[in-house]
Amino acid sequence: MTSAYLIRADFPLFAARPELVYLDSTATSQKPRVVIEALEHYYREINANVHRGAYDLSVQATLAYEEARRKMARFLGADEREIIFVRNTTEALNLLVYAWGLRVLKAGDEILLTEMEHHANLVPWHLVAVHTGAKIKAIPVRGDGRLDLDSLDRLLTDRVRVVSLTHMSNVLGTVNPVAQIAKAAKEKGALVIVDGAQSAPHMPVDVTGLGADFFALSGHKMCGPTGAGVLWGRYEMLEKMQPFLGGGEMINEVYLERSSYAKPPQRFEAGTPAIAEAVALGVAAEYLMGIGMQNIWQHDRSLVDYALARLDEELPEVKTFGPRGPDRGGVIAFTLGGLHAHDVATALDQHGIAVRAGHHCAQPLHRKLGLAATARASFYLYTTRDEVDRFIEALKKVREFFKDWL
Ligand SMILES: Cc1ncc(COP(=O)(O)O)c(C=O)c1O
Repeated sequence: MTSAYLIRADFPLFAARPELVYLDSTATSQKPRVVIEALEHYYREINANVHRGAYDLSVQATLAYEEARRKMARFLGADEREIIFVRNTTEALNLLVYAWGLRVLKAGDEILLTEMEHHANLVPWHLVAVHTGAKIKAIPVRGDGRLDLDSLDRLLTDRVRVVSLTHMSNVLGTVNPVAQIAKAAKEKGALVIVDGAQSAPHMPVDVTGLGADFFALSGHKMCGPTGAGVLWGRYEMLEKMQPFLGGGEMINEVYLERSSYAKPPQRFEAGTPAIAEAVALGVAAEYLMGIGMQNIWQHDRSLVDYALARLDEELPEVKTFGPRGPDRGGVIAFTLGGLHAHDVATALDQHGIAVRAGHHCAQPLHRKLGLAATARASFYLYTTRDEVDRFIEALKKVREFFKDWL
């Protein structure tokens, strides 16, 4: 990969804050100049509503928006008719819950999740369970941070109608064997939904190869702006589904008492979309593809291996979570002795290191780990080895400062 030291020059925030060590890309990524400029260019030179006007500017806006859809299709190895623009992963999963779950599931049906899910892939299903009487079950997480696949035979009963799981954990960094789980789920006739919030930004994703029915991502975690994400769905599924939101743009014909709906993807894009953000997300995807998703993955992998080896060797008081090996992305959740994660993160901030602290929207997983919170450092294509070194040296100073409380 082009060196992370060179890639940093594409990100204006790093020039504005040369002392900052930003290790919170799992929460949101920084934005390259091309993305910031795409937003500005759109508003300065193209701004009009899409799919409406007969005038040239509106045609230009529509072309830019639909071009972004094609870029996202290329990014995911999908057909452009299968790309629905949403705000983020949370909205994508809620769309599925409202458009499919609440309509199809009934008492006695089972929803299979995992213990490592983000709240975005838990709470919407709780709504479904309350309204339909369907039951939620979860694939356990083993001590090494991987899913207990031995339990799959027992859990995947004929009553399971949907398996919804994260591709990569935002706490453990675990990359789940989605294709294997999807195959088993399909044999039982279950729908497969993949939360790709953490995988899409960091590794090559070919949605057709995953064997899933749906895949959700957030643009802001992959160098795009906030407010634009994607729900990919197999066209046959989308075609069968009723809309989630009703309004302009998603209809075929409307009468006073009834309406018919447009074909997907428009059926699921009611109202004026986040046009500039979608256009800029397309630019972000193109930027990442230019660097190469496999290169980004290798870079993240090498940083996480390096960081974990140094932590093991030099900071025995630090406990890290998640698997060791090629199925581990660039996320390190950790504790330092018995210190509260917020104290650790606040102390690291004094040294210019930005890490997150809390349950990272994964309370059930933290409960399983027996912790209320962890601190979390995460890496991306612009993270350098020097920054990992600065993080570890700062952590040693934090250890020294709190030595009487460890
Ligand atoms: C695994 C996972 N799923 C879902 C989400 C929700 O993403 P968003 O807040 O962009 O909807 C996140 C965000 O951190 C995540 O890490």
